[in-house]
Amino acid sequence: LVEQLTAGQIVVGMLDPYRNTQLDNYASHGVTAFAMELLPRTLSRAQNMDVLSSQANLAGYKAVLLAANEYARPFPMFMTSAGTVKPAKLIILGVGVAGLQAIATAKRLGAVVEASDLRPAAKEQVESLGGKWLDVPMSDDEAQKAKATGGYAWTPSEQYIKDQAAIVDKAVSAADIVITTAQIPGRQAPRLIHQATIAKMKAGSVLIDMAAGTGGNVEGSVADQTITTDNGVRIVGADNIPSMLAAQSSDLYANNLVNFITTLIAQSADNPTANNLALTLNMEDEIQGALAVTHDGQVRLAKR
Ligand code: NAI
Repeated sequence: LVEQLTAGQIVVGMLDPYRNTQLDNYASHGVTAFAMELLPRTLSRAQNMDVLSSQANLAGYKAVLLAANEYARPFPMFMTSAGTVKPAKLIILGVGVAGLQAIATAKRLGAVVEASDLRPAAKEQVESLGGKWLDVPMSDDEAQKAKATGGYAWTPSEQYIKDQAAIVDKAVSAADIVITTAQIPGRQAPRLIHQATIAKMKAGSVLIDMAAGTGGNVEGSVADQTITTDNGVRIVGADNIPSMLAAQSSDLYANNLVNFITTLIAQSADNPTANNLALTLNMEDEIQGALAVTHDGQVRLAKR
């Protein structure tokens, strides 16, 4: 497809920039390619262009429904004359946009929810949705680092990874359902759940790995497949969950694209009338400059 593009054409989309092998090709064809994943998240005028948020929100919701389908018991507590049904215990690892929506959805369905994230700021958000925060101790140095990354994941120390593994092992081995969402843009997803922990889980428990497509948070998960382990745990390698809500995710994605593309079209300063619109590419613009991975024959993607 790239071969058919000609100089001066513009491509806008989710281009998976850090794994895209076609960027040199776009550049040599003189194409300006905008990768929507690179949008600055904290810029308020860019929020209506945020494709990662619009898709992750739907994915977080649907992940809980997938889990409810795989899990052969109810989510809420029922006190009936025939006996009491215990609520499902659900753990969420990675509390970004998808994780927060998953907490809200699971709470609405009546589950007891615990959650954890590298970012200490997520604690308050988890608690405000009625979840319990699984705390991993952090050194002062790490707390500073976490603040300095402006809300994005930081690179944890070996000690943090060890402490996190022990806390995750204890919580996950006692859980009925686990949903993992931890991703690092441009890199392999962190491995958060190991075989030894899965081996301790009850038969019928469910793991939904939303990072299965980028390396997997759960050892043994395979993108687009559901695996049943020897001890009866179901591991769902959930890749591209938004496609399961295709009409809605396409609507929101299209809105995000229109909101961005509109900013590329400006009225001519010489004759500012509605009929005098022109395409205006400006790499000095905070949004265009961040999204453009190729322009003027060059690949402009900064290394991670
Ligand atoms: P993501 O999909 O890249 O990752 C999901 C979550 O996994 C993140 O919260 C991340 O901190 C966590 N994570 C990564 N590695 C981990 C590890 N080893 N252990 C535990 N947790 C780990 O995240 P998403 O949803 O794209 O959000 C990324 C950041 O952008 C968040 O800080 C979010 O609050 C922020 N954001 C800000 C917006 C705004 O200000 N308008 C809009 C959307 C997101």
